[in-house]
Amino acid sequence: MDARADTDRLRALDRDHHLHPFTVFPELRAKGSRIITHAEGCYIFDSNGNRILDGMAGLWCVNLGYGRERLARVAYEQMQELPFYNAFFQTATVPSIELARALAEILPEGFERVFFASSGSEANDTVIKSVWYYWNLMGKPAKKTFISRTLGYHGVGLGSASLTGMRFMHDPFDLPLERFHHIGNPYWFAEGGDLDPEAFGKVAAGWLEAKILEIGPENVAAFVAEPIQGAGGVIIPPSTYWAEVQRICRQYDVLLVADEVICGFGRTGNWWGSTTFDIAPDIIPMAKGLSSGYQPIAAVAFHDRIADVLAASGTEYAHGVTYHGHPVAAAVALETIRIMREEGLDTRASGPIGACFRDRLMTLADHSLVGEVRTCGLLACVELVEDKAARRPYPAARKVGLTCREHCFDNGLVMRAIRDGMVLSPPLIVSEREIDEMVTKAADAFDLTLRSLAG
Ligand SMILES: Cc1ncc(COP(=O)(O)O)c(C=O)c1O
Repeated sequence: MDARADTDRLRALDRDHHLHPFTVFPELRAKGSRIITHAEGCYIFDSNGNRILDGMAGLWCVNLGYGRERLARVAYEQMQELPFYNAFFQTATVPSIELARALAEILPEGFERVFFASSGSEANDTVIKSVWYYWNLMGKPAKKTFISRTLGYHGVGLGSASLTGMRFMHDPFDLPLERFHHIGNPYWFAEGGDLDPEAFGKVAAGWLEAKILEIGPENVAAFVAEPIQGAGGVIIPPSTYWAEVQRICRQYDVLLVADEVICGFGRTGNWWGSTTFDIAPDIIPMAKGLSSGYQPIAAVAFHDRIADVLAASGTEYAHGVTYHGHPVAAAVALETIRIMREEGLDTRASGPIGACFRDRLMTLADHSLVGEVRTCGLLACVELVEDKAARRPYPAARKVGLTCREHCFDNGLVMRAIRDGMVLSPPLIVSEREIDEMVTKAADAFDLTLRSLAG
């Protein structure tokens, strides 16, 4: 069967039988899906044979790049050895134990224990229940309210979607649940006005203090935030923000949860975004890069000051999923960490390749459509605007970001559009040549987008 005919067949089957996540169904039905068939290194291939540079590492996760034979081999061997066993009945498996220890080695000081899950959403639901349980054990049962940010993304479970701040993820589902509140974001480009970024960082941190005082510190359980907001638009906070947030959390006895699902595992140039931003969290949920996206696995790390309280409880910790510490996923995650260490990928993004990524992307700042280029490690956002000086975007109805994303895809580059911010989060193995290709293709897509806007 030729590629075109097979694509048509697969598209028809996909349209008839598959409901996609985060999708306007009639739009997809009209257009048909793009079918990705295989991948190698930093490139994905579709069913029509197009080779596309994956500037998003899948969905912020394939940090080691595609086609890692060692990961395939450990999965195969573990499936033969022991494909599954649970951790419910006072049992454990070798890979889950080894992975827990490997994580303790790379986590910040004071984090010795982890609890496993299968996705970032599950990890954050684990965070919510564990925090509620912690405050019950501490004899402060009123401390149950969570604060997060309106452009924070923490997943799609009932709890984790309530932590997530985007209205479009709440309204169709009657969320958020009670006891979940949201504050503004340290998003200087959009909301900083005439303030300089440092002054704005303090203002944005002040919103947390104001919200805690409004709810009453005796009722506030935790503040949950990504070191850099990923799905909210790669919002890199001003340098003043995190120190102030941390001071506020400590002052009011509010736990600080650093959601490392995107920032963890080398994305910002350290194992943890918390290290890059000098944050000392109480709890760290992680997923994605934990297995480089090769297996669905997540974890929540608890600082000893929390873990000691949970571990001392004589009541059953009645929480956990079938695939907790799944041996195949754990073996793949363990091998991922080994490879990262061997190849120095934990810090690669803060070395010459991160500088190259930043410098080459900065050349786009002169483009008439570009309002700002911001990067940290191997994470970037290029804001497309109508008015550069005023930092003013086009009206949302013009769908500039989506137009640009389509031009990128057609031109052989995956860039994600978040509003009109064009986002990159390439595999950590990306080369200088691939960065050049990325920037050249992005510039071409910006030209085409300008032309579409004029037309
Ligand atoms: C920061 C953050 N937390 C949690 C999640 C949810 O992870 P998952 O999609 O694996 O449930 C995501 C997903 O993008 C994320 O970016």
